[in-house]
Amino acid sequence: MRINKFIASAGICARRAADDLIRQGRVKVNHVRVTEPGMDVQENDIVMVDDSPIKPAERKYYIMLNKPDGYVTTVHDQFDRASVTELVTDIEARLFPVGRLDYHTEGLLLMTNDGDFANKLTHPSQKVYKTYIARVKGFPKPADITRLCRGIYLEDGKTAPCKAEVIRQYPEGVEMSISIYEGRNRQVRRMIEAIGGKVISLRRISIGNVRLGHLPLGKWRHLTQAEINEFVKEK
Ligand code: URA
Repeated sequence: MRINKFIASAGICARRAADDLIRQGRVKVNHVRVTEPGMDVQENDIVMVDDSPIKPAERKYYIMLNKPDGYVTTVHDQFDRASVTELVTDIEARLFPVGRLDYHTEGLLLMTNDGDFANKLTHPSQKVYKTYIARVKGFPKPADITRLCRGIYLEDGKTAPCKAEVIRQYPEGVEMSISIYEGRNRQVRRMIEAIGGKVISLRRISIGNVRLGHLPLGKWRHLTQAEINEFVKEK
């Protein structure tokens, strides 16, 4: 098995992040530092990440968490802030988040120890739409919403077409729904800034057809088999 797949199946991180660990020199096989991301490992090899031995988990877990504001979605944070992994108790395997949410973003976060599942879901070619509800300061005009939907220029290039609409007005601004299938850093916040608004709060309510529903903030649940199938079916 490829070393990056081995690391992902041990629930350390997704495969692409495993390649980063290797490049950072944090992975050893049989006590020798690995430098080659394409390396194969055998069943009896001792694989270590940051000098701790790892082994592939047998059972795969797929859960959703309603992430509260004030948690990072990385497993370790350089500023020692609370991580979403602390909210997922009662599971013996190590789960990692599928994609990211900002520290201040709330809502639907999928977590798993299945690296293939995570890769499939986060790859833009899969066009899995993620829907956010944004409370915005400012009043975007219909023409701004049209520009947003067609794709708008950000500093890292033009965004893909998306779906966006104003769903409510407040004295200081609007509530908007916005669905995107890309996953660039702070993408929704930056898209709304590009049309002159400021995001006051952001919540993800669905990924594909899987919805957060009434799951309380800070709580998690297992995905149903139908929800898992939703993501693994061939497109
Ligand atoms: N877009 C953002 O700006 N932030 C998130 O957390 C997710 C999408």
